[in-house]
Amino acid sequence: MSFLVSLCQVIALLFLFFTEILCLAGSKNIPANFVFGDSLVDAGNNNYLATLSKANYDPNGIDFGSPTGRFTNGRTIVDIVYQALGSDELTPPYLAPTTRGSLILNGVNYASGGSGILNSTGKLFGERVNVDAQLDNFATTRQDIIFWIGEFDAAKLVRSAIFSVTTGSNDLINNYFTPVVSSVQRKVVSPEVFVDTMISRFRLQLTRLYQLGARKIAVINIGPVGCIPFSRESSDPTAGNECSVEPNEMAQMYNLKLKTLVEDLNRSLHGSRFVYADVFRIVYDILQNYSSYGFESEKIPCCSLVGKVGGLIPCGPTSKVCMDRSKYVFWDPYHPSEAANIIIARRLLSGDTSDIFPVNIRQLANLKINA
Ligand SMILES: *[C@@H]1O[C@H](CO)[C@@H](O)[C@H](O)[C@H]1NC(C)=O
Ligand SMILES: *[C@@H]1O[C@H](CO)[C@@H](O)[C@H](O)[C@H]1NC(C)=O
Ligand SMILES: *[C@@H]1O[C@H](CO)[C@@H](O)[C@H](O)[C@H]1NC(C)=O
Repeated sequence: MSFLVSLCQVIALLFLFFTEILCLAGSKNIPANFVFGDSLVDAGNNNYLATLSKANYDPNGIDFGSPTGRFTNGRTIVDIVYQALGSDELTPPYLAPTTRGSLILNGVNYASGGSGILNSTGKLFGERVNVDAQLDNFATTRQDIIFWIGEFDAAKLVRSAIFSVTTGSNDLINNYFTPVVSSVQRKVVSPEVFVDTMISRFRLQLTRLYQLGARKIAVINIGPVGCIPFSRESSDPTAGNECSVEPNEMAQMYNLKLKTLVEDLNRSLHGSRFVYADVFRIVYDILQNYSSYGFESEKIPCCSLVGKVGGLIPCGPTSKVCMDRSKYVFWDPYHPSEAANIIIARRLLSGDTSDIFPVNIRQLANLKINA
């Protein structure tokens, strides 16, 4: 496939007209994959930014052989899903200098660690590409696609492509649940008002994605952020190392409104096929039944340093890494391990309507969209 892609690039330079035939053969008719979101799906964009939110150092990426910028030991959920759909390549990060030429016809990853729906989210980390700016970057890619294959085929490529948006956790964690940093915001804005602000902003962003030609759009809800090791560690000390209740309640409050938003947009934006992925439910189930999924710990991250559950210090070169990475739900204080990502990805691909509604990713990929 990489041979075919580079062949496409060469041919494309010579004969713009013939590229489509060759490149479609190269991509085995798999829809292109456009990825938006935060560190759960960042494939290395933050490697190119001045930010504290980075993962291009050991032991991240240990199962790739070296760090890639992914915030886990191996592949992210979107990597696994796209491979399962038949792709030989992982969708490349937008900011990588090698993401050029007709490579973009198979899709691009715009996700950025520390980012969120709101522009102000993640400010404490330094640079990050928030959802508004990720959409600006997609608009640029779309122009490049038109340059390679023309307006008509570009519109067709984009409307058959799979778009996924995995965001919102940082908006909650940064503004409400980070000790000290969040205290001002919490006093001034109630959770209800804050969640409504996120939803109204996200409505505009998803509408813009549709206006740029996207039709198949998977919206991933916020997971049980109260159960990540960071929250277990930093919440009410009397709670021991149990899930922190408040972040989970706020995530559920947001998710309920998000589902209504997705149904609204699906109804009002002609020809759109939105799906709502209930990752909260999937991850909560994994945490409840971790031993029946083959995990030994649902609380302690594989890569940890100090504390009750090793949840306060980010994973880095001085951390301890567990012996068997497949036995831990969490890789670090914030992010699932590849083993957990595989289970989540499988349920997004093939799950029933209680996991992902109204169709799963395999069904979404196969939908024919005419307008
Ligand atoms: C957020 O930033 C983008 C630029 O990345 C800008 O276009 C947009 O208007 C900003 N949104 C708000 C609400 O300030
Ligand atoms: C979106 O609309 C289609 C019909 O166009 C319908 O089959 C589907 O169930 C709707 N999806 C959602 C999330 O409401
Ligand atoms: C997980 O546990 C819940 C009850 O806590 C149960 O209803 C569900 O069937 C379990 N799922 C699996 C896969 O074991």
